[in-house]
Amino acid sequence: MATYKLSDFTLDEKLHLLSGKDNWHLWDGDGKLPLLRLADGPHGMRIYNEDGSVKPATAMPCLSAIGSTFNRELAYLSGNTIADECIEMGAAVLLAPGVNTRRCPLNGRNFEYFSEDPFLSGELGAAYIEGVQVKGIGTSLKHYCANLREYDRFYQGCDIDERALREIYLAAFEGALRAKPYTVMCSFTPINGVYASENRYLLKDMLRDEFGFDGVVISDWGAVHSIYKSVKAGLDLTMPYRADNYSRLKEAYERGLLSDEEIDFCVRNILTLIERTQNDRKVVTTTKEERYQNAVRIAKEAVVLLKNEDGLLPLRAGNVLISGSFVRRPPTGGGGSSFVETTYVQRPLNELLNEKGGATYETPAGHAIDSKGKIPIGLRNLYHAAYGKDAVVLCVGEDNTVECESFDRQSIRLNPQTERMILDTAAINENVVVLVYAGSAIDMSAWIDKVKAVVFVGFLGEGVNEALAAILSGEVSPSGKLTESFPLSLKESCAGTDPGNGYTEWFQEGIFVGYRYYDKWDKEVLFPFGHGLSYADLTYSNLRIEKKSETDYTVTYDIENRSDFDAMEASQVYVSDVFSMVTRPKKELKGFSKDLIPAHGKTTVSVPLNARSFAYYNTSLKDWHIENGIFKILVGASSRDIRLSADIEITLPDETQYSVYFAQHVM
Ligand code: GLC
Repeated sequence: MATYKLSDFTLDEKLHLLSGKDNWHLWDGDGKLPLLRLADGPHGMRIYNEDGSVKPATAMPCLSAIGSTFNRELAYLSGNTIADECIEMGAAVLLAPGVNTRRCPLNGRNFEYFSEDPFLSGELGAAYIEGVQVKGIGTSLKHYCANLREYDRFYQGCDIDERALREIYLAAFEGALRAKPYTVMCSFTPINGVYASENRYLLKDMLRDEFGFDGVVISDWGAVHSIYKSVKAGLDLTMPYRADNYSRLKEAYERGLLSDEEIDFCVRNILTLIERTQNDRKVVTTTKEERYQNAVRIAKEAVVLLKNEDGLLPLRAGNVLISGSFVRRPPTGGGGSSFVETTYVQRPLNELLNEKGGATYETPAGHAIDSKGKIPIGLRNLYHAAYGKDAVVLCVGEDNTVECESFDRQSIRLNPQTERMILDTAAINENVVVLVYAGSAIDMSAWIDKVKAVVFVGFLGEGVNEALAAILSGEVSPSGKLTESFPLSLKESCAGTDPGNGYTEWFQEGIFVGYRYYDKWDKEVLFPFGHGLSYADLTYSNLRIEKKSETDYTVTYDIENRSDFDAMEASQVYVSDVFSMVTRPKKELKGFSKDLIPAHGKTTVSVPLNARSFAYYNTSLKDWHIENGIFKILVGASSRDIRLSADIEITLPDETQYSVYFAQHVM
């Protein structure tokens, strides 16, 4: 592997290195260096041809769907699968994963992010990064940070208090950084008045000094407003190329605004990235078919069964009507730079289901969901066909024209015509199953009480129909769980309906984001974070907590399956600080595990907790702090379905504590 010294390059060459050669490549020193290609994206390769068309690639499930698997192994598998196509298509760095917090349900890019919880996002982000980089391909952890709305994304910033920044918005990145991504991509966003691309506190004090990041900071495309100020703040590589990047840097240097040390710091990072990507690990190990099967495997564990009244699902007998354009052309992902142009030809869902045997499926002629507004047409054909059927499956929701980079949704409800279709169908047939295709929360309150079963499909990539056929037929028990709270309405969410004033959006909820928010104010939700039903009857028991040190514990419990279905289960471990001198969330996810619980079997699950599991960020100490006292350990099937609970007491040495309780004056 070649190594490069700063002394190998002139000042002018160094300045050219600090920005892209074009839209997608690093500057190659006019042949002195390898030509490094950067490429999207988190759900599969998105590489453009000369004519602007996009090369076909395997469409993997979106990160929001991978989040719903609660499965580190599948996050790794998705990154590892995409890495093979990176190698085949000649990319050195995959611009993924995104670990931003799903704070506002309207956010157009929520489908690109794992969760509303920073621990879950960090764990899955780290696994994804490891899956990619084990193959010698770099990653780009993004969008650092607080890229939480698409509305006015290049200009509107956010006001975030220090605890929220540390405990929520940076915490997801801090967790994923454990996997040592080759690069981090800064966001477009001004954070507390300073653009991320010029924010020395974020790019150096936090990212490098506090979190130990030793890679390259890349700008998001067009996120740099003053290239020399960005270099001074620690942004190494400005993307994409712009004709005046070099001249502006040269002028700043000549005016003494930019030093040799600042330039060399960034150039050194870029040269190290080039060295890291020259390795012998780039070996393709999967075929196109195997990648498709990986997409199916992940999709099967991402499907979330939200409601299943009378055990209507799985549909194993009878005549079933299945409707909607998504039967033949299901959404595979959201829109924008993460959209993958798959050439995989979906087999219609009804065909796949009929091959499973059991129920027989037909689709109503003359009915469809039109491709633009997702408005149902030919309704009377649907209603006529629905009458007398044993069950009706309605495929509704959104696609890449509704959930997309560069704009937010205008509502979290389905369009009125679709809501009316569901209600009218339910008035005709008492056994309605609704499949909802979306990348973020949907307000179902207008119709959910009228239907018996609801499946949140998500955006599952090209394996979507094969995965759904396995779930609906009962071949596989659903095991996906929500990683975003579904509110009763948009105004119930912490972000509410106010998009900000064009200058900034004040995150007045502080650390109380997602389930933390609904818990704090005892708000009802449509479906809570971590919710997802199974076909299996699963019981949790026998909680035991092993103390390995004052702050390290192993939480162990049993999950028993009294059904005939083999089932995967995503169990969750929350921690609650019973008494605290600061306001803390009622509970916080600090562990999770996805395990097979065989039919009529029992599985023992163990989840570790460490010091960070109990700590909060103390703004007086400027550090993470554990306050001695009692903590509840809560084991749940969801954040609001706690099955087991036990107290532990932490007693750290007095010198680590601050006078909290009224006590005898001891020293
Ligand atoms: C876009 C996106 C980013 C993507 C990059 C390259 O603006 O914000 O996620 O990787 O530009 O397409």
